[in-house]
Amino acid sequence: MDDLLHLARTMMMRAHAPYSKFHVGAALRDEDGGIHGGCNVENAAYPQGICAEAGALAALVAAGKRRVLECLVVGPGPEVITPCGGCRQKLREFAADDLKIHLCGPDGLHRTVTLGMLLPMSFGPQHFG
Ligand code: THU
Repeated sequence: MDDLLHLARTMMMRAHAPYSKFHVGAALRDEDGGIHGGCNVENAAYPQGICAEAGALAALVAAGKRRVLECLVVGPGPEVITPCGGCRQKLREFAADDLKIHLCGPDGLHRTVTLGMLLPMSFGPQHFG
């Protein structure tokens, strides 16, 4: 988990969040053990902003990978940060219910949950047979 935390912290420092001032970093482990990071990228047209998890997923797919085996998100704290609803669904595309999502603050790990806990009875690729 240390490699994911290190990458996510680096990502967090690169966030473009001039509007919310809420910097987030995310890191994902792929099916071959490689890791990919992302940060939130906000926009003057607010709805066009991108979450850190979405950026990390785009990096994983752009690297030719298709599975997420572990996820870590780091936010500014002190509240435990969790992926937004849209990002839960985006993660679901590439991960199973048992995906571990490590929720971290600047001081390190706060809590580990699963995607199934955050997105119960999810709609996913299996619905297409
Ligand atoms: N944000 C993320 O990037 N990931 C999360 O898990 C929660 C929220 C971003 C979106 C926006 O740029 C800022 O945090 C405030 O909502």
